[in-house]
Amino acid sequence: MKALLVMVFIVGFVILFVQCSNGVENKKDLDENMLDLAMYSDNLGLYLRKQDADYSLWLLDGLDSTLQILSITFTEHRKLLRPFKQSYNKELAPPINDIRKALYKTDFPKAVESYRLLINNCNDCHIDLEIDKTVVDWSKAGVH
Ligand code: HEC
Repeated sequence: MKALLVMVFIVGFVILFVQCSNGVENKKDLDENMLDLAMYSDNLGLYLRKQDADYSLWLLDGLDSTLQILSITFTEHRKLLRPFKQSYNKELAPPINDIRKALYKTDFPKAVESYRLLINNCNDCHIDLEIDKTVVDWSKAGVH
């Protein structure tokens, strides 16, 4: 009985180790990850409008983490022309870093300006790839 328990523990640890050494495990497909992105970006727009720096920063980190997981996962995908990481580095990371810097200084006009650039860049990729999805700019008054 004792030997069996020890065996179970060892097998358990081996499975854990193998899973951890694989790094991030992303079971979602690109469209599901995109829905996560939209959840973060919609709420980010809303909380920038409410001028809530703490919650905006939390949402921004969630958005950025999801994008980094996408960058690791989608080195290729039937709907993408290049590895996602290239688009992240070039189009998304710069405005995200600008939003972060602006929020540290609670400079909301600057944060909103960079947020709009980010949303434009989301949509530019959708237009390029003929994806019928417009990401909404929630920082604008009139969007509920
Ligand atoms: C490098 C290109 C690219 C960028 C950048 C990009 N997307 Fe997408 N997006 C796609 C592709 C491709 C699809 C279609 C996925 C599919 O149908 O499998 C998609 C689909 C979507 C969808 C629809 C998902 C669904 O299942 O209905 C949403 C929402 C979305 N993206 C949000 C975003 C947001 C928010 C950003 C910016 C933070 C963003 N996307 C940036 C390529 C991109």
